[in-house]
Amino acid sequence: MYRAQRQEALPTATARAGSNIAFIKYWGVADPRINLPLNNSISMTLGSLHTTTTVEWDTAGRLSADQVTIDGEPATGKKAERVTEHLNLIRHLAGDKRHRARVVSRNNFPMASGIASSASAFAALTVAACAALDLPFERTRLSGIARRGSGSASRSLFGGFVEWEQGRDDATSVARQIYPAEHWTLRDVVAVISTAEKPVSSQNGHGMAVTSPFNSARVDSLYSMLQEVRNAITMCDLQRLGPIIEQDALAMHGVMMTSRPSLLYWQPGTIEVMQAVRRWRENDGLQVYFTIDAGPNVHLICEPAFEVEVLKRLQKLGSVRSVITSGPGDGPQLLDEHLV
Ligand code: PMV
Repeated sequence: MYRAQRQEALPTATARAGSNIAFIKYWGVADPRINLPLNNSISMTLGSLHTTTTVEWDTAGRLSADQVTIDGEPATGKKAERVTEHLNLIRHLAGDKRHRARVVSRNNFPMASGIASSASAFAALTVAACAALDLPFERTRLSGIARRGSGSASRSLFGGFVEWEQGRDDATSVARQIYPAEHWTLRDVVAVISTAEKPVSSQNGHGMAVTSPFNSARVDSLYSMLQEVRNAITMCDLQRLGPIIEQDALAMHGVMMTSRPSLLYWQPGTIEVMQAVRRWRENDGLQVYFTIDAGPNVHLICEPAFEVEVLKRLQKLGSVRSVITSGPGDGPQLLDEHLV
């Protein structure tokens, strides 16, 4: 369990959690009320892209509503509602529905642009909120709680290479670590095409997956692909992993594009990067593969030996605005320094 380090005047804790990049994606929900997914997913937790969140429970009763600040701005509307809903769940688990909370959160990367900010955000929020209340929950339980805020957040409760089991209910739909971060020093080089917030959040997109005629074909094909990904990770074999992660990213975007209404997250720059990756591989033998989440940015996965070359080449592409890099990282940690 995570325990707050210091006893503050008000119960306060700060947690930092890494984002993650999925190799087999979570897309589509079987039960939207509890974010039960249609399939298992596998990801790598990212060490350098993280969210830091402080939760201060107002046990003095001064606040009449939760107060949420994200990246220096007061959160309003849907964003604030999502945080409050998650805090409601934690209040319910704590058996104390009275107290509101002050939440201050900071991302060290652009939010809502396909760099999975919701994963690190809800993982950090879950850990900080539960630690501040001294709730004696193990990591697996915290993973299930984080899942309710954002499915992919369940995976950010663990470091390294992680699988989220589809499960049947709240207790079984949780993530587990396959290998720790040290197992494979894989690199994620993110080609940032746009930092604008996506027009349709993944939370809304998940509900639309079943309207695509391609959805069931994708889900049916995943059983063997998941096994291939597990094996490739075990062997640290990128030439085995790479083609599958590209295939599933394209399959997921195929589902998105053919759902009703249609979702098209790509921009011209997204295609420029995908074409370049294939050219570099085919013409120059550069071992690099792409994957894309619900946004226009492209994650390039390669071994550390190729990172500098990939970075150099990406910077020459006209549509790449910036490049962010990360390797695998550990699970969430509690920090002594608070943001409030
Ligand atoms: O956790 P959510 O609701 O933000 O969904 C994440 C969806 C993808 O990033 C596209 C895929 C994944 O598994 O991370």
